[in-house]
Amino acid sequence: MNFSKPPIHSILVPDNYLGLRAPPKLGKTPFRPDEFAGETVLITGGGTGLGKAIALEFGRIGAKVAIASRSDEHVQAGIKFLSEYGVECWGFTLDVRDPASIEACFSQVASQIGFPTILINNAAGNFPVAAEELSPNGFKTVVDIVLNGSFNCSRHLARHHIENATRAAIVNIGASYAWTGGPGFVHSASAKAGVKTMTETLAVEWAPLGIRVNGLVPGLFPHDDESAQIRMVPGRHENDAARCPALRVGEPRELGWACAFLCSKYASYITGHTMVVDGANWQRRFLTQPEFQSVRDQLGLDPQLH
Ligand code: HXC
Ligand code: NAP
Repeated sequence: MNFSKPPIHSILVPDNYLGLRAPPKLGKTPFRPDEFAGETVLITGGGTGLGKAIALEFGRIGAKVAIASRSDEHVQAGIKFLSEYGVECWGFTLDVRDPASIEACFSQVASQIGFPTILINNAAGNFPVAAEELSPNGFKTVVDIVLNGSFNCSRHLARHHIENATRAAIVNIGASYAWTGGPGFVHSASAKAGVKTMTETLAVEWAPLGIRVNGLVPGLFPHDDESAQIRMVPGRHENDAARCPALRVGEPRELGWACAFLCSKYASYITGHTMVVDGANWQRRFLTQPEFQSVRDQLGLDPQLH
């Protein structure tokens, strides 16, 4: 594939606009240090990227934090990163596609730090691909991780709390193409749309049972752990700030604050809502749309299937 094509619009960040304010520094928080004392938070995919940033915020404000994913290397790297910021966290192996793995993970978390009262469904799989080039198994793999995995983990958490008549909160990490569609990401966009409507559905079913379910959508949040496949998205990280109305990208800690808010008592009447943290990037339109470029062109593919 040829990813060397220049982006259609490559402008510098203009210096005569304010843009949106930079966030407070890493380590600042609107919450008390013991805000989540007594709570156990399980973050799937919490050893890398945005999950790791969410773990850091919860750990700083008193929660016991569990991070879990398939690769021990990712989990151990996450634990090391968090410990550098003074946050103790517990790591577990988990494949969200496998109900037996979920059961084993929750039970290990429960025995070590208490059954989770907060679940962040953050694990995801994604890669850019033209839909007609995507195999059935490629589509299934992403849907299994993103949609089925989020349901499997949510169901496991909810059944425990329903049986014990205890309260809980779930946040599903989404993407804005759940609303718009996502050319080049048909698997992930379909799955995230499912996650959004699952969030709305479960919120109604489980509110009487004391369980809140919300969604949180990051916009453009670059980070060092991005997978090679995402880093290779054509145009990714070329002049990022100028690609956002805010004239800046998101800082991972901003998602940590939003996620903690959604799980906090200050959000106890908020459920079934999906909050977008993206500086209004996904609503933007040109007065006249730029020239259309097909996904095949953007990915450097011939117009014909081979
Ligand atoms: C076409 C591909 C492909 C590609 C994989 N496949 N990569 N097809 N183009 N670039 C196909 C494989 O050929 C195979 O189908 C099927 O997908 C499963 O691949 P496996 O490698 O066997 O799967 P697995 O080992 O389970 O890995 C899952 C994965 C991988 C999703 C493919 O990338 C992964 O583990 N990702 C986790 C990290 C991640 O993706 N993070 C991104 C989150 S960011 P066949 O038919 O050959 O068997 C995000 C938002 C970013 O979501 C914003 C977007 C701009
Ligand atoms: P990332 O660093 O690649 O994180 C994905 C995590 O999911 C990894 O830790 C991975 O760990 C884990 N994972 C993948 N498959 C799994 C499975 N089957 N079971 C358990 N864990 C699994 O990506 P990120 O950028 O932080 O993304 C975090 C969330 O934000 C995702 O939901 C993503 O869709 C969303 N998002 C991100 C952006 C962005 O700009 N970064 C934009 C929109 C939405 P293992 O490999 O160890 O399993």
